[in-house]
Amino acid sequence: MVSFTAILLLAGAVMHAQAQDFSDLVGTWSSKSNSTFTGDGFYDPVSDHFTEPKHTGISYSFTADGYFEESYYRAVANPTNPKCPTGIIQWQHGKFSKAVDGSLELSPIKVDGRQMYSDPCAYKTSVYTRYNATEQFQVRSISHPIPCSSVCGLRC
Ligand SMILES: *[C@@H]1O[C@H](CO)[C@@H](O)[C@H](O)[C@H]1NC(C)=O
Ligand SMILES: *[C@@H]1O[C@H](CO)[C@@H](O)[C@H](O)[C@H]1NC(C)=O
Repeated sequence: MVSFTAILLLAGAVMHAQAQDFSDLVGTWSSKSNSTFTGDGFYDPVSDHFTEPKHTGISYSFTADGYFEESYYRAVANPTNPKCPTGIIQWQHGKFSKAVDGSLELSPIKVDGRQMYSDPCAYKTSVYTRYNATEQFQVRSISHPIPCSSVCGLRC
C-alpha cells in the first residue's frame, strides 16, 4: 500500500555492537508520496498532537549521534464498504544502530511512541494510544534527503 517496501527491505539480520559511521544516513528520508515527514508538523510531542498528512507515506530521520525519528501514515481500503477506510498514524523515536551488512535496528523509546487509529464507521473519534515497535531493515535505496532546514526532525 505505502511504498515502504520501495525504500526498505525487511531483514532479520543480527546486529553487532561496534563503532558506527552514520554519515550515509544522516538526514530526513521520505517515501515517494513525499508528503509524510518527520518533525512536529506530523507529531508535536509538546502538545501531544498529530497532524494528518495529505498523502500516506513513511519518513525517517537519522542523526549522526545515533538517533532516529519515524513518521508513518497508512490508509486501509475497505472493499466491502468503500465508505469506511481505516487509517493508522504512528510516530516513534529512539536510538538506532547499524550492522556490518548495512542493516539497521531501530530501538524506540517505548513510552514516547504514539498511534492514532481511525475507523470512522466503527468509532466516532480516533483511538489514540501509545505505540512502540523495534524495527530491523536493510536500506536498499532511498530518495534524496530533504534539506534539514525545511522539514527537520527533533534533533537536527
Ligand atoms: C519533497 O518535499 C520537500 C518539502 O516540501 C521538497 O523540498 C522537495 O523538493 C520534494 N521532493 C520531491 C522529489 O518532490
Ligand atoms: C510496547 O509495545 C508492546 C507491544 O505492543 C506493549 O505490550 C508494551 O506495553 C509497550 N510499552 C510501552 C511502554 O508502551
